[in-house]
Amino acid sequence: MPTRQAEIRRYLVPVNTVSTKQMFTDCLVIGSGIAGLRAALEAAESCTVTLVCKGSVSDSNTWNAQGGVASVLAAEDSFESHIDDTLRTGGGICDRAVVERVVREGPDLIRQLMDWGTEFDRVEGKMDISLEGGHSHARIIHSHGDSTGRGIAETLVRKVRQNRNINLIENFFAIDLLSGPQRECVGVLGWQAPAEVQMIWAGVTILATGGAGRLYRETTNPECATADGLGMAWRAGAVLRDMEFMQFHPTTLYIAGASRALMTETLRGEGGILRDVNGVPFMKEYDPRAELAPRDVVSRAILDRMLKTQSTHVYLDIRHFDKDRFHSRFPFISELCESFDIDVSTDLIPVRPSAHYMVGGVKTDAEAATNIPRLLACGEVASTGLHGANRLGSNSLLEGLVYGKIAGKTAIHLVSTLGTVGYQRMQLEIPPSDRSLLDADDVRNSLRALMWRNVGITRRQTPLSEAIEIIRFWQRYVMDKVFTNPFGWECQNMLTVALLMAHAAEQRKESRGVHFRQDFPQRDDENFARHIELVRE
Ligand code: FUM
Repeated sequence: MPTRQAEIRRYLVPVNTVSTKQMFTDCLVIGSGIAGLRAALEAAESCTVTLVCKGSVSDSNTWNAQGGVASVLAAEDSFESHIDDTLRTGGGICDRAVVERVVREGPDLIRQLMDWGTEFDRVEGKMDISLEGGHSHARIIHSHGDSTGRGIAETLVRKVRQNRNINLIENFFAIDLLSGPQRECVGVLGWQAPAEVQMIWAGVTILATGGAGRLYRETTNPECATADGLGMAWRAGAVLRDMEFMQFHPTTLYIAGASRALMTETLRGEGGILRDVNGVPFMKEYDPRAELAPRDVVSRAILDRMLKTQSTHVYLDIRHFDKDRFHSRFPFISELCESFDIDVSTDLIPVRPSAHYMVGGVKTDAEAATNIPRLLACGEVASTGLHGANRLGSNSLLEGLVYGKIAGKTAIHLVSTLGTVGYQRMQLEIPPSDRSLLDADDVRNSLRALMWRNVGITRRQTPLSEAIEIIRFWQRYVMDKVFTNPFGWECQNMLTVALLMAHAAEQRKESRGVHFRQDFPQRDDENFARHIELVRE
């Protein structure tokens, strides 16, 4: 049964169609990561498409993705093996049909990307395929060394810009999905710099807004990952699923003042060793797979070691790597380390875990449809059933490609069967708040620290209950405000989604996948081999 919660008002801002600029499109795509771009290209085969993104087209998790795309391309690999690895990592709650579909459709879509111009790295003419934790075979392909996401996104963006059916609008902040008389999604209410509220009416809307890493103090995610898609889907009545499953990446650079840049898993795949602050390698004490254990295992081992050695970090040791190969294989990381005077052939790299990927999200069916008519979701914002309780590394770019295409196809079908959406008169006033003025920056920072402390890598009942209580308290004086800028709306989305994550983490009284409860350290299949679904009344 869905859990019902109802504190949040339906729209963050007043709605008045009479005084608001209007646009019309067959298919609206919100988000410019791999899933949104791929969905737009597919839908544009027979629809007019408007693609909006809140910053520039390059502000996305996709653009930052280092490691690569997992897919069965090596002769000694098999679909069955990739399917088994995904299911095993997912902790028993993946949707097998979805896993099979994504794995099997992957290679063709990667070949299509190559036809479109993406250059995956090669060695002596053959695709250079890497190994990552949790995979039984080398199956990670990469582009520009450790800038795979950028390599793919550049291709897709070029195709989008060339496509006459796609209208790309940057710096458009989607505030809320618009609901029609039957609660169907009829488009979006948004804001475009410098200061204009606009409405885009759409026959079908595809949510591809990415993740929620910015809800945590420590994160690999760019500033845009503030859970806006999850927040607006929740307000519109979408079912959110598995919100307790935030994946933490074990190795992000830990230097005061530096962004928490990823030290890609492939570094460990290629022989990088984790050492504690005393120089002792420790992973074998925690798991026989050592550095190649799944991310959740490595993250918890690092955290435990940090506690035992009373330190803020551990080290990644790649001093034994061939220096020239390191520079050419990992140019981004190489440059980053140099910029902090870290000579990787003599120095250890300080690392610690941080929030990386939102495994849960807006529940979709196999065709990317949500429970809201005319609303689809794909990419990190969606919960398709591929990842279960834990995402296998490098499966997300693959999912973005496959489900982006599926969402685009479903959009075409919906527009041809249901038709487009025209102007609808809407007017909604929101009474002004009589509470005091607010420092949204302070709320955001406090929330991120709270989530890191109380809803982080390891969880317990009392800190979770405390987090729920504190977030509810903050919501009382933040959610009744009407902000006029993205910073405030992001703050409201962050508070909304953080509460859902804390609730789901509190409800799952067991440990599974990325969700680890110190007070319930075992997996409990009898009671929890299932999803936790949340829906607003
Ligand atoms: O470590 C990495 O390069 C991360 C890959 C991923 O999140 O899939």
